[in-house]
Amino acid sequence: ANIYGEQRRNSRGVNLADHLVVEPLGDAMDTAAGQHWHAAPIIGGKSLKGEGDPILNPADRRQQVGRVTWTTPEQADEAITMASRAAAEWSATTAEERATCLDRMADLMESHMAELMALCVREAGKGVPDAVAEVREAVDFCRYYAQRARLDFGTPMPLPGPTGEKNEIALHGRGVFVCISPWNFPLAIFTGQVTAALAAGNTVVAKPAEQTSLIGTRAAELLLEAGIPPEALQLLPGGGDIGGRLVADERINGVAFTGSVATARRINQTLSQRQGPIIPLIAETGGQNAMIADSTALPEQLVRDVLISSFQSAGQRCSALRVLYLQEDVADHVLHMLNGAMQELTVGDPAWLATDVGPVIDPEARDGLMRHVEAMKRSARLVGETPLGPDTEHGTFVAPVAFEINGIDDLDDEHFGPILHVVRYKAGELDRVVDAINNTRYGLTLGVHSRIDAVAERVAQRARVGNLYVNRNQIGAVVGVQPFGGEGLSGTGPKAGGPRYLHRFATERAVTVDT
Ligand code: NAD
Ligand code: ALA
Repeated sequence: ANIYGEQRRNSRGVNLADHLVVEPLGDAMDTAAGQHWHAAPIIGGKSLKGEGDPILNPADRRQQVGRVTWTTPEQADEAITMASRAAAEWSATTAEERATCLDRMADLMESHMAELMALCVREAGKGVPDAVAEVREAVDFCRYYAQRARLDFGTPMPLPGPTGEKNEIALHGRGVFVCISPWNFPLAIFTGQVTAALAAGNTVVAKPAEQTSLIGTRAAELLLEAGIPPEALQLLPGGGDIGGRLVADERINGVAFTGSVATARRINQTLSQRQGPIIPLIAETGGQNAMIADSTALPEQLVRDVLISSFQSAGQRCSALRVLYLQEDVADHVLHMLNGAMQELTVGDPAWLATDVGPVIDPEARDGLMRHVEAMKRSARLVGETPLGPDTEHGTFVAPVAFEINGIDDLDDEHFGPILHVVRYKAGELDRVVDAINNTRYGLTLGVHSRIDAVAERVAQRARVGNLYVNRNQIGAVVGVQPFGGEGLSGTGPKAGGPRYLHRFATERAVTVDT
């Protein structure tokens, strides 16, 4: 056991280099994709399917992946009524009962790995390695939060009783938690938020991102199959209108949100204007993530880690690298290598194992990114651009591209795609660079490449970020190993996949008995 008393292992990987593994997995994914997926509200365990709208594959928008029936405002209200009624009963279950459901959910997701991966590839445009990682992270969240619930919610903590009284403190569910998730980790973040809220003893009203309603619906179906009572979990496919309605409802007792800063601000505003109780908002938002590479960095390792950090998942990770600070002595050499490496990337269908960069999520995302690329082409120096692969004309693809700019403050916002910005700095300017990064007021991930320990130590001491990575890429935080989340504009904390995450979903009650 580690210092937190945990005895647990994360899920096992899939060896995508072994054709004996890959071929049956690919067949199972194809078979799964043949079924008719349909997202719909699930209220009190009933799926309220109507005819619905088509959901299209971002890699080829001529292909329909499934359909979605959107939630009506009345259904959203009904879902909160149902979750409110069930709150006392679910909160009275033991941590062991709740944890057992989560462990079962983990097992169920493992046994539905191929289907869940097929959904991640087809609905969210994830590459196959990313789809494996997505399912694994969701599985790991379930088992991790199950364990944390057993450890922290199992028995009350005894406190001193200096006057002869018996004192103890215990964690309890708050009531109804609204969980609102983004499309970029449609299974992992959806499952992480919902299972954390349930494990802490809350009933849940969950609204997945509109772009990935199928994945959210499938995850909710599996949670019900795992034994979560139908009254304790309501699933509402819908957009910002439904999300806004949920957070404005005075009957809810907490909100877990992951998405953009703009939406987090809107939710915060709504919560501050409600007449009901003051409730917590757990917000995990975006980043303007940088990497600092000095002249001692190993160029080959640096370029590999820059490619992974900037372009894996088509740059659609909150953790992704946006601004690379390069010490000027080595900048030309590194940029030459980076440009060469970018020519070798394959942009195309995420279902192909050889693809490095798949599509971005939808036409709106592509158009916004392309507007930024065009503006950069007018004002900045192009240092590398990957050619688009064949068969990309029917999907929402954006080719990886890198520009040299003057400083991180040239950027107005987070550009959520495969666009890297590069800034040169001089030896002796390390503190100025870190201060410029801090001044964005985002604080999610930061990379450092240096073979001088004192450089990494100096950055770690000065930088205001949630996750700092030294001499490696800066994406792919692992549950229980690299608890993930930022500060400032990047989030409220606590960290997802960390030992204190469940506490924010709970309330503490101290009981004193005069013996
Ligand atoms: P988004 O803010 O547009 O949407 C997120 C969710 O909020 C969706 O479910 C959406 O329907 C809902 N929503 C929209 N308007 C709402 C409103 N007024 N009230 C309530 N809910 C509303 O974000 P996105 O485009 O889905 O996701 C990408 C963003 O998420 C990026 O900024 C990325 O950095 C961030 N992100 C952060 C983390 C993290 O852990 N820090 C992880 C993944 C993504
Ligand atoms: N947890 C995700 C990552 O680290 C966002 O890339």
